[in-house]
Amino acid sequence: MQIQENISLKNYNSFGLDVNAKYFSVFTDIPSLAELLETGRHPFTTERSRRLLILGGGSNMLLTNDFNGLVIKNNIPGIRKTAEDEQHVYVTVGAGENWHETVMHCIDMGWGGLENLALIPGNTGASPMQNIGAYGVEIKDHFYQLEAWDIEDKKTVIFTAAECEFGYRESVFKGRLKNRFVITSVSFRLDKNPAFHITYGAIREELERQGVQDLSIRAIADAVISIRRSKLPDPAVIGNAGSFFKNPEIPASQFEELKSVYPEIVGYPLPGAMVKLAAGWLIEKAGWKGYREGDAGCHAKQALVLVNYGNASGHEILKLSDKISESVREKFGVHLQKEVNVV
Ligand code: FAD
Ligand code: EPU
Repeated sequence: MQIQENISLKNYNSFGLDVNAKYFSVFTDIPSLAELLETGRHPFTTERSRRLLILGGGSNMLLTNDFNGLVIKNNIPGIRKTAEDEQHVYVTVGAGENWHETVMHCIDMGWGGLENLALIPGNTGASPMQNIGAYGVEIKDHFYQLEAWDIEDKKTVIFTAAECEFGYRESVFKGRLKNRFVITSVSFRLDKNPAFHITYGAIREELERQGVQDLSIRAIADAVISIRRSKLPDPAVIGNAGSFFKNPEIPASQFEELKSVYPEIVGYPLPGAMVKLAAGWLIEKAGWKGYREGDAGCHAKQALVLVNYGNASGHEILKLSDKISESVREKFGVHLQKEVNVV
């Protein structure tokens, strides 16, 4: 186990923000994670929320300052089938496995369920953190259980789906139990005879455009990949962390009031007389789409994505995000909650 000092995190976060970690270490199994956290040299866990940063692929983080503590990068490998019955296979994936490669491996094996989630950046270990979702599917739909290392009680704990308290871009690990557990592996229940989810309009259109006759999990993944490439900036080219804000959920009555003023407003009905608004629409209508201030900007093709054109600082991106949410609040009376984890 090696602890490096004063390491730049520029290549470890998809915004490409150049901040330093005071201490940095990579672990590939649970014993070395435990040893790392126990190291007598640095009492990292005494003020755990301020001194320890668990890093996956860094694709949902806004790093605003040098990190004056220990950054631990989770590289635990491995994908294996652990059980099966007539309809399902159970697959356990090490937290350090790249998410997209996990999805493609499952497709290669003919195991269905994750195909709508192709090309989401980051690692499998972070996928439960905000219950990643796209194109009508969330991981909670195929989640079985996960294993996590309890930093306080120093033991491995299993969490079922109910215990993860999954919600829209939420879980217990992003909320109440933030920084207490390091997720070490995630298990999925996948389908041998998958049901195809193509209700999301854009997928159907893309499948038609590609002339797909025989629907398959691979064809769905290909359609999703193609849509995502056409809309979202590639972090390898322009720094970003995907949607910066969540899509806000408001009462249906408030939606009707907004609709009377803005008939073209985009909203999707939810249970409980609520409506989910498209934050990208709100931000575009507030005039921010394509806006740039120094190297911080609001993407020209997707207003929900804030970008770093090169040398923006985390503070500059945060300042821009505050201006955007303030103007959306003034214009529409709607609060935008950040999806990205600000560190
Ligand atoms: P990181 O950014 O490294 O970490 C995210 C948070 O989880 C941090 O708080 C970190 O401390 C914590 N964490 C990470 N690993 C662990 C662990 N093993 N144990 C405990 N805590 C941990 N998200 C979606 O839901 N849907 C999308 O469609 C989507 N599209 C995106 C498109 C682009 C271009 C980009 C850049 C991002 C997109 N995202 C999307 C966001 C991001 O890809 C996901 O949130 C992803 O799961 C983050 O994984 P990561 O490994 O990079 O996490
Ligand atoms: N829209 C605009 N202007 C914009 C952007 C979007 O008017 O600049 C409108 C679109 O026309 C569309 C609606 O907003 O009617 C929704 O847009 P889109 O389909 O692009 O999806 P989104 O709601 O912006 C969400 C997720 C994405 C996920 C896609 C596909 C959130 C916060 N974002 O984006 O997830 O990939 O749907 O399912 O829920 C992420 O979480 O990082 C992320 C990228």
